[in-house]
Amino acid sequence: MKENPDAANQAAHETSGKTARASDREPIAVWDSGLGGLTVLLALRARLPNEDFVYFADTRHFPYGDKPEDFLRARGRAVAAALWARGAKALVVACNTATAAAVSDIRKETQKPVIALEPALKPAVAASKTGVVGVLATPRTLESQRFSRLVADCAKNATVIACPCPGLAEVIEREGAQSAAAGVLLDRYLAPLNAAGADAVALGCTHYPWARKEIAARTPAGTIIVDSGEAVARQTEARLLRESHLGGRGRLIFAASDDAERFARAVTRLLAFSCPAEVWPV
Ligand code: DGL
Repeated sequence: MKENPDAANQAAHETSGKTARASDREPIAVWDSGLGGLTVLLALRARLPNEDFVYFADTRHFPYGDKPEDFLRARGRAVAAALWARGAKALVVACNTATAAAVSDIRKETQKPVIALEPALKPAVAASKTGVVGVLATPRTLESQRFSRLVADCAKNATVIACPCPGLAEVIEREGAQSAAAGVLLDRYLAPLNAAGADAVALGCTHYPWARKEIAARTPAGTIIVDSGEAVARQTEARLLRESHLGGRGRLIFAASDDAERFARAVTRLLAFSCPAEVWPV
């Protein structure tokens, strides 16, 4: 994303002809364990450029992918409560692992829109010609009941090769998707998909789109690689914005549950603009 959020943040909202309500100006909160949800934020920001966004990274508890479900459920309640308390009008759970464990509890405790994501299995199955579809995700996502239901609902006539990828989100976050360590893991995790003849791969963790090129380089030419960012952005628009009258460019706020400076440096590297981040001790 090539834009200057400082300039964006300085530009006050204008209204687009109609009067903006106070609730229109409340931000949409976007939550992930770390940098993965930024891939969703990019899609949201492209579709909803007038909206303000608060991006919260639970860096203190990263990674989520190997945490027990009870822990993630408790985390979900705590993070959602903190984001509502800061005035969010909607919450996008930009993390497959957190969705699988915590979204039902979060929805029970609020009437505000909670938009969640799941591995993009349906579009992957639709795009596949071989009928063999791969899913890359964290162990916790693939063990969840939500994922079993998704496979039962969307992939009746397909062979689904679900490949847990322990450590991949951590390596992408700490060393980058182009690192040798990421390459070693991708070689290992993509081998069963390639061996089975998968021609479509669903990225079931929001960190993995950062490695899209590296995944493409390790799968046969023409393999379809799908993530959930655009679908979530469309759903958020549908849930929220039919009546919004905001104009102008929306603001961005970044926050992390610890070491905001490290997080801000990583955001700057990935999004190619400099942005401060706040620590929110959730
Ligand atoms: N980005 C998260 C997801 O979509 C998980 C990464 C992690 O914290 O393990 O599943």
